[in-house]
Amino acid sequence: MNTCQNSVPKILVVDDERSMREFLEIMLQQDGYRVQCVDDGEKAARALRDQSFDLIITDIRMQPMDGLEVLKMARSVSPRTVVIIISAYSSTETAVAAMKEGAYDYLPKPFQIDEMRTVIGNALESRNGNGRPPPQPEGPLYFGCLMGESPPMRRVYELIGRVASNSSNVLITGESGTGKELVARAIHGQSPRSGRPLVIVNCGGVPENLVESELFGYRKGAFTGASSNRKGLVEAAQGGTLFLDEIGELTPALQVKLLRLVQEKTIKMIGDTENTEVDTRIISATNRDLEQMVMEGTFREDLYYRLNVLPIHLPPLRERSEDIALLARHFLSKFSKRFGKDIRKISSFALDILRNYDFPGNIRELEHIIERGVALEASSIILPDSLTLSTHKRSRNKAHETHAPALPEGTDLDSYLAHMETRLLAGALKQADGVKHKAAEILGISFRSFRYRLLKYGLASEEDAS
Ligand SMILES: Nc1ncnc2c1ncn2[C@@H]1O[C@H](COP(=O)(O)OP(=O)(O)OP(=O)(O)O)[C@@H](O)[C@H]1O
Ligand SMILES: [Mg+2]
Repeated sequence: MNTCQNSVPKILVVDDERSMREFLEIMLQQDGYRVQCVDDGEKAARALRDQSFDLIITDIRMQPMDGLEVLKMARSVSPRTVVIIISAYSSTETAVAAMKEGAYDYLPKPFQIDEMRTVIGNALESRNGNGRPPPQPEGPLYFGCLMGESPPMRRVYELIGRVASNSSNVLITGESGTGKELVARAIHGQSPRSGRPLVIVNCGGVPENLVESELFGYRKGAFTGASSNRKGLVEAAQGGTLFLDEIGELTPALQVKLLRLVQEKTIKMIGDTENTEVDTRIISATNRDLEQMVMEGTFREDLYYRLNVLPIHLPPLRERSEDIALLARHFLSKFSKRFGKDIRKISSFALDILRNYDFPGNIRELEHIIERGVALEASSIILPDSLTLSTHKRSRNKAHETHAPALPEGTDLDSYLAHMETRLLAGALKQADGVKHKAAEILGISFRSFRYRLLKYGLASEEDAS
């Protein structure tokens, strides 16, 4: 459920309290939105599987499915739908749980109409202009949410463009944090299936029986606790795309069940005797070496070949260091806005350090480094000191590598360092045409610190240094 066809935003209201549903329905219709109201979580789940919504406003306490479950369902079935939680039982715990699960905002009841209007307006705006795709600059610099202009990334964009139009299965490989999920989203978003759901299933870290019931659904009475029929995520992806993340973690038993889906395009709900036909495109992703797993006998060869019809490999960030500055600036602007700070630049020294870092955690790690940097930085520019790089054994920060110079015997460290510092200060001043603020920036230090050093080494008088 990616982009709504109609430009008028569509809102789903979920509340078991009739007066609240009616109030919101009237208010939202008056404001020109399309509205649907349901009185419990299960009806919301059904509505979500059948239609696309731009926004959900949901109560927390409801039976049989509560607002947090509606939120989780929405995140999985329709990731672009924003969710606002409302609850009479305002407690910080619920709010924190909801925000952690990805809710856009939380409003305790009773709320002011204007307050609700503002939150709705901001929430819809956060989806980039009421569901319209984000404005794209010319050229292949961006592709969906993907950024990067290095030759390997351009090849990835080209592949996405080529595979999007058909329904063959795609296997995305690459180290952790290289953007596999973003690529899956881009393929779905570019495909003729984009009006239908993109359903994301994480196959790792979840017990086998849970993955099975989540994927295939169950019939009432299939096991203790199965009090009603429940469709699985594969069916939720009917007509759309099923993204199977961490496919290398699937147990052998689930590999067999998945093979049936891939080969025959049918599934069997737990407790069912009948097969159900499904039309879904499968995109899988892994950071493991599936070929090696096939050789070791831990991943089925037949399944591997069927999933890997169209392979896309994402190169690690250290192999496309041309993209580092672009990505770093993108994250800088994102986190400056988020933290309400006015930091617009990364000093050239700081960028050099990043360009030469190994990034074992790839783009996710770069994003976290910049996030921390923005949080820590007190000045208006990201300086090397605010970068916290991991000391992971694979990191090879060339900028910190020591090329020990051959020193004349008897050289003492302090005078050597003073000599080097003076040269660097003078060099930066020259490069900056005497503009001290610019020189400080080149060296990645604050103006105060630069001024102090000019005075210390006698490179400027009190008057000149200001
Ligand atoms: N090319 C890119 N441009 C902008 N942001 C990116 C790019 N690639 C990845 N990211 C960002 O980096 C983070 C990690 O990306 P993603 O979750 O897609 O990686 P992944 O390969 O699925 O990782 P994992 O194997 O750990 O699940 C996300 O926040 C994503 O938005
Ligand atoms: Mg991922």
